[in-house]
Amino acid sequence: MNKIVFGIVNIFLFIFSLNLHAEVKLDNLRCEMLENPIGIDVVNPNLSWNIKSNERGVSQNAYRIIVASSKENLDQNIGDMWDSDKVESDQSIQITYQGKKLESRKECFWKVKVWTSHGESEWSSIANWSMGFIYYKDWQGRWIGFDRVFPWDSDSFNSRLSARYFRKEFKLNKTIEKARVYIIGLGLYELFLNGKKIGDQVLTPSPTDYTKNVKYNVFDVTEELQQGENAIGVILGNGRYYTMRQHYKAYKIKNFGFPKMLVQLEVEYDDGSTRIITTDSSWRGTANGPIRSNNEYDGEEYDAQREMPGWSKPGFNDTDWLDAEYVEEPRGEFEAQMNPYVKVLQTIKPVSIKEISKGRYILDIGQNIAGWIKLKVKGNRGDQVQLRFAEILQDNGELFTANLRDAKACDLYTLKGEGEEVWEPKFVYHGFQFVEIIGFPGTPTLDNFEAKVVSDEIDKNGEFTTSNPLINQLFKNAYWGVLSNYKGIPIDCPQRDERQPWLGERAVGCYSESYIFGNELLYRKWIDDIAYSQKADGSVCDVAPSYFRYYSDNMTWPGTFLFVADMLYRQYGDVRPIVKHYDAMKKWMFYMRDRYLSDEYILTQDRYGDWCAPPKTIEEGRGKSADVKYPSQLISTTYFYHFLGMMQQFATLSGNEQDILEYKELAEKVKNNFDKNFYRPELSGYGENKLTDNILALYMDLVPENKKKTIAGTIEDIIVNENKGHLSTGMIGTKWIMRTLTDHNRTDIAYQLATNKTYPSWGYMIENGAKVIWELWNGNTASPRMNSYNHVMMLGDLIIWYYESLAGIKSSDQSPGFKQIIMKPEIINQLDYVNASYNSVHGLIKSNWEKKDNTFNWDISIPANTNAIVYFPSNIVNEPTENGLNINEIETVRFLRMEGNRKVYQVGSGDYSFHSEMKK
Ligand code: BGC
Repeated sequence: MNKIVFGIVNIFLFIFSLNLHAEVKLDNLRCEMLENPIGIDVVNPNLSWNIKSNERGVSQNAYRIIVASSKENLDQNIGDMWDSDKVESDQSIQITYQGKKLESRKECFWKVKVWTSHGESEWSSIANWSMGFIYYKDWQGRWIGFDRVFPWDSDSFNSRLSARYFRKEFKLNKTIEKARVYIIGLGLYELFLNGKKIGDQVLTPSPTDYTKNVKYNVFDVTEELQQGENAIGVILGNGRYYTMRQHYKAYKIKNFGFPKMLVQLEVEYDDGSTRIITTDSSWRGTANGPIRSNNEYDGEEYDAQREMPGWSKPGFNDTDWLDAEYVEEPRGEFEAQMNPYVKVLQTIKPVSIKEISKGRYILDIGQNIAGWIKLKVKGNRGDQVQLRFAEILQDNGELFTANLRDAKACDLYTLKGEGEEVWEPKFVYHGFQFVEIIGFPGTPTLDNFEAKVVSDEIDKNGEFTTSNPLINQLFKNAYWGVLSNYKGIPIDCPQRDERQPWLGERAVGCYSESYIFGNELLYRKWIDDIAYSQKADGSVCDVAPSYFRYYSDNMTWPGTFLFVADMLYRQYGDVRPIVKHYDAMKKWMFYMRDRYLSDEYILTQDRYGDWCAPPKTIEEGRGKSADVKYPSQLISTTYFYHFLGMMQQFATLSGNEQDILEYKELAEKVKNNFDKNFYRPELSGYGENKLTDNILALYMDLVPENKKKTIAGTIEDIIVNENKGHLSTGMIGTKWIMRTLTDHNRTDIAYQLATNKTYPSWGYMIENGAKVIWELWNGNTASPRMNSYNHVMMLGDLIIWYYESLAGIKSSDQSPGFKQIIMKPEIINQLDYVNASYNSVHGLIKSNWEKKDNTFNWDISIPANTNAIVYFPSNIVNEPTENGLNINEIETVRFLRMEGNRKVYQVGSGDYSFHSEMKK
């Protein structure tokens, strides 16, 4: 996958010259974690870089950043925007720009040099960023659209609305120096200049609550314009603006209106003059083009007979088009989209095609994905090919669509009959592995179809393999599952009539996913969405953007607000979301306290309980809907307590120390009463003595010291004896289970859970054909009403455990963003090796260990300007060596202490190959 790229600028920065005395290179310069972003609206952006060196123990002592308004100035080291001078600091990520005020459209060029323990680097090569529109009044155009249905539309349950096409011709008289286009096209748009689509992003912009904020995009289009005649064209799709279900549960589903747009094209001529073209009523529009309908749930209908060749080029005859109409502007603030674009990330060749009845075929693409099919077909004018999508097949070979509920998931292509026709949809996506094809002229072959994987363009963060194929397969399933569910918001599932950004699954999910994908920018956008969902009274929605109006007041869904802030700080070292949203988080906490905290310090309100806990046996759950809620005061109280702890840390980080005492005193009261309220001596456990109850009590630190052993024993007893070695946790308990077991020295049980193949387990899903992660532990037999085959919530903390416990890669709590890395692998009897890498904000971390004939070999990489606390396994017998030398002779390694039987060292940056003997 490509690097994250914002806009169309795509210049990679890898070339840095070396100072001969020091092997210190600077790499990967980022502004707001983006490489050369175009059109940002953060007025004090953060700058970051990575240091690379072949030497060990490299740390930064100081840096100097220069920001200039031209390359020429920068070349001469003139920081006319900002010269930080030499700053004594070891910080190399998230450094806030403190120069001259950044105005709209401003272009900035920057570079950095560093002083390290190994000498001074040369200047990095040049990176740049440019500002978008900071002020509302920068927008000069008017919103246009058609606020109505046309005769061929149908404002019905299925919300059939044709795409709107708009165009405008204009003349540019002089030589063009530079041109940028600023666009807000709602719900979704594609932009064309002189017949060419601008950029390779799809499904743009990212969805938001359009009454709160709308995202604009900026593109450099200097190359697409010409002196003389030009034309601009935009197609508007519905997205979430003209929502998928207009007349269904209007109290629940938000609708925003008809598609509309605001465009501003700014051209700078070489004589310094400018020309601005904006949307107004001189634009022409039609809703009678080839896209007859587009609806995220139901699919896209395209009639090639209605194509309008050349519609976005100059000279097109638009006399039968209409004048664009002025429409009301959306209520939301205009904000630059800083999270990655959705793109087609991969093309998959289908694996089989079978005729199941005359003229009806089933195509199998071999993987459950989110995306669409690109079709290649030849036939007569008016022939229609229908593509219907599903995740699995029934036993009789037909599509299984019952779990899609009301989503039709069906694309329809009508041929124009002019030789080979190639088509793919623009404004929909489907969650699928199988496609039913009807009406294909002639006999379709595999060559007629390509599957397109459509997701946020986010870097994969590393690799993870072990000697156990099941563990590896689960990692792959997690990769595909997370990827399918990133669409500018994290959604629950990509296939049924839901696809909603539910908060509950991401509480720990955001953290776990960060080990697979560099998800910082997505979650930075999403935490704003969550904040926007907050009502004046303090309540936060269970879904954000709040397309479903569910304000059910519970700790476990809205509480994701805090978890995301924590994740961004811990994994990416970015404290700004905590600072920005501190007041909102506090308001929500006190809203919950004031309404629902009892005199006994029980947080009495919950909604979903341990959502989707597995029925005891497959038979018990057969055919039953999982949509049954068992609210639990133990769950809400343990989470409330946990959040009070987080708020204390957030208060410190955001300069709100005055609040700490209040959280602390409240937390103490909750804790002091918890045992009294929830402990059941006759069961030696808490609450209803479910596995989740005891895990939460123990993990959230609510168990008195003298009972910890008992509770750990109860957990063990439930898993080993009651559950015959299986988990019995739903979405809540599964978030903490692997870590609780590991923290209490039962990694062996955790490993068993991770590798079980019988119900209920992750392995059971795989044994039964899962290519991603199911919504339900009994996903193959439960009622299809709530049974998605591509949900990420049951991943729980499995991937966290893979990285932090199997590989031993974790950021220290004190030095977030992996500035200090805790390398503490758990050595599992049944595992021969683990190979893991993780691309942290500071650079690539590796941990590859292997057991062989009573030896333990461990290769690690620690990025420059970080260090690691390295824990050797407890069963090594003698002093480890590093490349043949006794570890104590290595200059960059320092023995710290014994922790239990584990030797602990502090290790400086660099690559190391450790070796030691192990007890038999
Ligand atoms: C969604 C879940 C969500 C839950 C809460 C389901 O229908 O798919 O992911 O968290 O509802 O009610």
